[in-house]
Formats: sequence, C-alpha cells, structure tokens
Amino acid sequence: MRLHKALLLSSTFIITTSFMVVPESPAGTGTMIKKEGIESRNEEWAKHFPLQYNSWKQTSQSEKIIDMLEKKPQLAVIWAGYGFAKDYNAPRGHYYALQDNINTLRTGAPVGPITGPMPTACWSCKSPDVPRMMEKDGELEFFTGKWAKYGPEIVNTIGCGDCHDSQTGGMALSRDYLKRGLEASGVKLDEITKNDMRSLVCAQCHSEYYFKKTPWEDKDGNKKVAKVVTFPWDNGLSAEEMEAYYDDIQFKDWTHKISRAPMLKAQHPGYEIFKTGIHARRDVSCADCHMPSSVEDGETYTNHNIQNPLDDIDNTCLSCHDQSEEEFRTVVEQKLQRKEQLMEIAMDNLAKAHLEAGKAWELGATEEDMADILQDIRHGQWRWDYSIASHASFFHAPEETLRLLAVSNELAQTARLKLVKVLAKYGDIAYMAPDFTTKEKAQALAGVPLAKLVEEKKRFKATLVKEWEKQAVKNGVLNMDSRKGMSDKSSYSN
Ligand code: HEC
Ligand code: HEC
Ligand code: HEC
Ligand code: HEC
Repeated sequence: MRLHKALLLSSTFIITTSFMVVPESPAGTGTMIKKEGIESRNEEWAKHFPLQYNSWKQTSQSEKIIDMLEKKPQLAVIWAGYGFAKDYNAPRGHYYALQDNINTLRTGAPVGPITGPMPTACWSCKSPDVPRMMEKDGELEFFTGKWAKYGPEIVNTIGCGDCHDSQTGGMALSRDYLKRGLEASGVKLDEITKNDMRSLVCAQCHSEYYFKKTPWEDKDGNKKVAKVVTFPWDNGLSAEEMEAYYDDIQFKDWTHKISRAPMLKAQHPGYEIFKTGIHARRDVSCADCHMPSSVEDGETYTNHNIQNPLDDIDNTCLSCHDQSEEEFRTVVEQKLQRKEQLMEIAMDNLAKAHLEAGKAWELGATEEDMADILQDIRHGQWRWDYSIASHASFFHAPEETLRLLAVSNELAQTARLKLVKVLAKYGDIAYMAPDFTTKEKAQALAGVPLAKLVEEKKRFKATLVKEWEKQAVKNGVLNMDSRKGMSDKSSYSN
C-alpha cells in the first residue's frame, strides 16, 4: 500500500482505506541476473541495481552490540539449559546476520563438518546461499547434518537472492517452508498479492518455526534424519493456536535445567504478532515502514536500508501521518515503557518460578506434585517469549503484546502459588530464590561455563572459519570485497 500525504485526514490517526492502491500480482523487474539457479553474491546484483545495492549495504551502519543478558540478567535463568542463556544480543543490521551466527556462543565451536552442536537449519535465516544450496542438494539433504557441513557454502549475508528471483529480478519467496506454513494456515498461494509480498518476504525469517525431525531415504537408499524448518501454523498464528499445535505433538525445544519444565522457545514470531495490529489490519506492509521510497539523482527507488523507521521518520511514518516528529517519537516511547513495565514483572515471576521449582525437586517433590506447575511455567513463558522475541511488537501490535504479557505473568504467579504449597509440604516455608541481578550471577545459576565457551569459539574462528572462507573464495561463491571494512564485534570481544 502506498498512501499519499494529500490523502491524509489531518490531525487524527484515522485514515480511510478506500484510497489504497489495488494490489497487482508480483511483477518482475525484467532483469535477468543469472540464467539458472540463485545468485547469492550481492555484488553481482549491484552491477544491475546500484541504488538498491548501496542502500542495502547501509545496513552495515547498524553495528552496535547490545548484550541482552547484561541488560536483562533474568534471561539467563529463564533459558537455563538452552543456548540463549550463553549469548543473546539485540538484532543488528542484515549486513551482520551471517557473521553474528558464526560469532554467537550459541552455535558453539565445530572442528569439522560433522561436529555440532547445531543443525544445518541454523543457517536458514542468514543468507541467500541457503536457497541456493537447497536447490542444489534438495531440501531434505540440506536439512540433514550439522551446520558446519555448509560452512564453505553459506558465506554471503542476507541479500538480494533472499527476496528476489534471479531470473526475473521480481520479488519472490525463496523459502518453501514459508509457502508450506501459509498453506497449512489456509492461505491460497495463488491469491497472494503484491502488497502481501511486501510483508511475506520478511515473514520468511521474522516468524516462528521449529526443527521438525523428518526421517527420509536418499537416492542410494541411505536412511537419514532431517531437521526441517517448519512453521507451526496449522491451527492459526496466535500464541494460543501455536501452543495447541506444540502441545498436541508434545513438542519441546528443551528441558529446563533448573525447573525441568518441558519448554518452548519462541523464535521471533514478528510477522504473526504484527498481523494482529492496526497497521496490518489496514494493509500497511513491513516495507511501507522499513523500506520507504527514496529519490537519488531524480530516480525513485525502494530504499533497502532496512532499519528502525524512526531514523528516517520523514519518509516512513510521516508519509502517511501528519503529526509532528516529536509527537510520534513520544507515542512510540510510551508504548515501549508500557511493555517494559509488564515485561519486567512477568520475567521476574518466571525466573523465580523456575528457581522455586528447582528447590522443590531438591527437597524431594514428585512428578505428580510438579506436573501441573511445570505446564503453567511452559505456557506462561511461551506467551512472554512470543510477545517479546518478536522484536518491536510493543509498536507493531501493542494490545496483543500487553495481553500476552499479562497472561504470562498470571500463569507464572499461579505456578509460584502452587509452589509455596509444594515447598511447605517438603518442609520449607521460607524459601527465597537466590539473587540473579547480574549476568554473572544468573549465568552461574544456569551453569554456563562462559570462559570455556569463549575460548573454544575464538579457536574455531581462527581455524575452521578461515578454512571455510578460503574454500569459498576458491569455489567462486564468495567475493572477499563484500566484507571489506566489516567490524567483527560480539558480546565477548569488541
Ligand atoms: C528483505 C527483502 C529484500 C532484500 C534482501 C532485497 N530486496 Fe529488493 N525489494 C524488496 C521489496 C519489498 C521491494 C519493493 C517491491 C515493490 O513494492 O514493488 C524491492 C524492490 C526492488 C527493486 C525494484 C525497484 C525498486 O527500487 O523498487 C529492485 C531492482 C531491487 N529491489 C533490487 C534489490 C537488490 C539489488 C538487492 C540486494 C542488494 C535487494 N533488492 C535486496 C525486498 C528486498
Ligand atoms: C533471510 C532472512 C531475513 C529476511 C528475509 C528478513 N530479515 Fe530482517 N533480520 C534477519 C536477521 C537474522 C536479523 C538479525 C541480524 C543480526 O542481528 O545480525 C534481522 C534484523 C532485522 C532488523 C533489525 C535491524 C537493526 O538495525 O536493528 C529489522 C528492522 C529487520 N530485520 C526487518 C526486516 C524486514 C522489514 C524484512 C522484509 C522487508 C526483513 N527484515 C527480512 C533476517 C531476515
Ligand atoms: C507502521 C510502521 C511499521 C510497520 C508496518 C512494521 N514495522 Fe517494524 N518497526 C517499526 C518501528 C517504529 C520500529 C522501532 C521501534 C523501536 O524500537 O523504537 C520497528 C522495529 C522493527 C524491528 C527491530 C526491532 C529491534 O529490536 O531492533 C524488526 C525486526 C521489525 N521492526 C520487523 C518488522 C516486520 C518483519 C514487519 C512486518 C511483518 C514490520 N516490522 C512492520 C515500525 C513498523
Ligand atoms: C503506509 C501508511 C502508514 C505508515 C507508513 C505508517 N502508518 Fe501509522 N497508521 C496507518 C493507518 C492506516 C493507521 C490506522 C488508522 C485507523 O484506522 O484508525 C495507522 C495508525 C497508527 C497509530 C494508531 C494506532 C496505534 O497503534 O496506537 C499510531 C500510533 C501510528 N499509526 C504510528 C505510526 C508510526 C510511529 C509510524 C512510523 C514508524 C507509522 N504509523 C507509519 C498508516 C500508516
């Protein structure tokens, strides 16, 4: 949708929808980048589309590392036993997606193509080399094995080939798992409009998924097990509908190390929660705010510097609204503060529920004492995670975010009330959860061996990663110029 300033109703947020441009079907740009297959090297696209390329490259300016475990130490307790307790930063520009996947302590330190810890699926939302390799090897082979298997192949960060077709240049979905998710949720693929595509290209990655264990047999008759990225959308896209999906198949991402609850980790259901907000309901797309039109040397083009829209407020919000910039910043800031307040309360109760459950086990509580409590913790934490892991949901969908945080808190408190009884039953009427107010204290409670993880990671980067790069350059899939001047920051080294 594109609205024009002249069509706005002044001084209110009310904009009628009847002015919206009727969406057309996704059109190509008419430029062939490659005759066959997927062109994953962004520099090859740059030869045809310098304006789009140059703006895309500006995502490198969002390079600040914000260590969320420092900022919110409760997270390490809440995620004890899972990778996120080791390392978790706020998102940065797309330019860094690939490097951040290599750098994060969550992906460990493989020493060869078959060492773990993470599956190949881990690369899924980082690079246009992913659809390139899926096309080459087949999706099931792609999803079989450990992530290091594709180290020398997945070398270009999120770029043109993720959202555009290499033969026509037009917008395209490069991930079949999104198409399958949409179909499972009742969407007819041939009814998708061009305007839908301006959000769906983002939904390929900014969505909830899990790795579905899928046994298969290759053409030589070898039995293999793939871990296939799957969207849990069969019942619908809300937190409750996805939870029902996971409960029905008794799926868990991990067993919590302290409370032993069977946990779900929300990835980043950004698309799903966005759909519940007023902008989505009025057919405003992700690209309307994150990829506004720009003009350079008289040429109008889509700005590919996907960033915080408030950094370019004139071309984003104010292309549809006519409030003052200051008023808009205040509106967004207030929404953030409302979320922060509820989120802190919910996180505090969730972290304490885990620790109190841990104490109950220690004192001899039985499965029967705990089953109900652990289910409350699972469901409460899922709602909290669904709402906050979907970045900026406080703005994209404020009502839904606050609702989920309120219910999350209610479930965590219910669990804690039940735990008071269980603890008393086993003789402790005054248990107080230990202090988790710093990253160090929280990681110690979660049993994270940070120094060891950092040391292994550094070795991995100095050895295997260098091999990957050399091989990729030799095979012609990586142009080292694409990384010129790239900073290499992480939560553990600057
Ligand atoms: C995250 C998804 C995404 C990525 C990555 C991406 N694009 Fe786009 N691109 C879009 C969207 C959305 C549009 C707007 C399409 C529309 O509404 O017509 C667009 C439009 C375009 C157009 C049409 C002309 C214009 O400016 O509107 C060209 C050409 C283009 N992109 C080239 C590129 C190139 C080159 C790269 C890589 C450097 C790239 N794109 C990366 C999503 C993406
Ligand atoms: C191929 C997967 C992929 C696609 C497609 C994609 N994203 Fe992202 N996006 C990511 C990842 C991964 C990150 C985090 C990168 C990091 O922190 O290193 C991210 C980060 C972001 C950020 C944070 C940027 C910052 O500077 O803080 C925004 C905003 C964003 N994406 C919006 C979008 C929008 C809008 C679209 C569609 C037009 C889109 N993304 C398409 C994977 C993707
Ligand atoms: C009406 C405008 C608007 C639309 C539409 C929109 N966003 Fe945003 N988005 C924002 C604003 C504003 C922020 C920054 C909020 C803040 O943190 O101050 C943001 C932030 C983000 C971030 C980064 C959060 C972070 O923590 O750095 C991501 C990722 C993102 N949006 C993805 C999306 C995706 C995906 C869609 C479509 C499904 C979308 N947005 C649609 C306005 C919008
Ligand atoms: C493509 C047009 C478009 C863009 C761009 C846009 N908006 Fe909106 N906005 C709308 C429409 C349409 C509505 C719904 C009006 C209604 O029906 O009441 C709306 C509603 C709102 C509301 C009231 C609803 C709520 O959630 O409280 C706020 C606040 C708002 N927009 C802020 C922003 C901000 C901030 C940005 C930039 C980050 C932005 N908008 C970008 C079209 C747009």
